[in-house]
Amino acid sequence: MIGQLGYLAFEVGDLAVWESFATGVLGLEVARRWAGGFSLRMDGHAQRFFVTSGTPGAVPDDLSAVGWQVADEAALEAVAARLRGAGHDVVEGTAEEAAARQVVRLIHLRDPGGIRVEIAFGPARGEAPFTSSLARSGFVADEHGLGHLVINAPDPAATGAFYQELLGFRLSDRIVCQFYGYPVDITFLHTNARHHSLAFGGQQEKRLHHFLLEVKSLDDVGAALDRAVGAGVRIAQMIGRHPNDRMVSFYAFTPSGFQFEYGWGGRLVDDATWEPTVHDRISEWGHHPPERYAPRRPKPPKPEGTT
Ligand SMILES: [Fe+2]
Repeated sequence: MIGQLGYLAFEVGDLAVWESFATGVLGLEVARRWAGGFSLRMDGHAQRFFVTSGTPGAVPDDLSAVGWQVADEAALEAVAARLRGAGHDVVEGTAEEAAARQVVRLIHLRDPGGIRVEIAFGPARGEAPFTSSLARSGFVADEHGLGHLVINAPDPAATGAFYQELLGFRLSDRIVCQFYGYPVDITFLHTNARHHSLAFGGQQEKRLHHFLLEVKSLDDVGAALDRAVGAGVRIAQMIGRHPNDRMVSFYAFTPSGFQFEYGWGGRLVDDATWEPTVHDRISEWGHHPPERYAPRRPKPPKPEGTT
């Protein structure tokens, strides 16, 4: 069914701030610009992210669409038939929509949380190989998809059924625990060898909690953290390692208020041998919010008579 996470689209309040953040902090490259938006690339695909200014009446600074990629036209027809058979209102994308995404054909519908889901095949390849002067090791993407995302799911059972039963995602595992007093119950799903391309854990403030970018070296995670700190980006969670996908990562806020995760070392899963489990903690170590670190102690006053 679904082959990979093909692209993400965001509707944002400030395009210029987003462009400098995406290129200067994340290490992505602008692929195209047009009136009211731009796209970004990170690997062999011509475009992986679409960033547009908010449309009138829409609430900006959130996810506007998720693009899932299937292998070919037959796979697209099959998934459309399955969705329609389950009563979903599947809409054929226009030629203009397909051209903007640089795919051969796309369909779209809403998932149970109201997120616009696009399913497409035949994405264009970039004309030149992708290189980033910032993320020098390169991104783990291409056949694994652009990364992963954690979405709003007010009805987790409905979201799970939609993605697993209709779109063919497989359960990787769950994490059920408390994190700094907050109950956590997250379901992780995969659609290729990447440990998870999609996860959800209930109601979120925005449609998107975070998206992940994975680089091929740990040093590139550290360098990204340096760039985020240098740019004044608010850090949400410092470096840590998750027990399920084994990703060493940090979390910080995008200019739109949802988060990004920047990581290295994510594991791959083999469906032939994979056994879904339930983990009882969200991190093997680390991932502490910066405000949990002890504040620096004030310097003691100098004794009288000293200089
Ligand atoms: Fe993540």
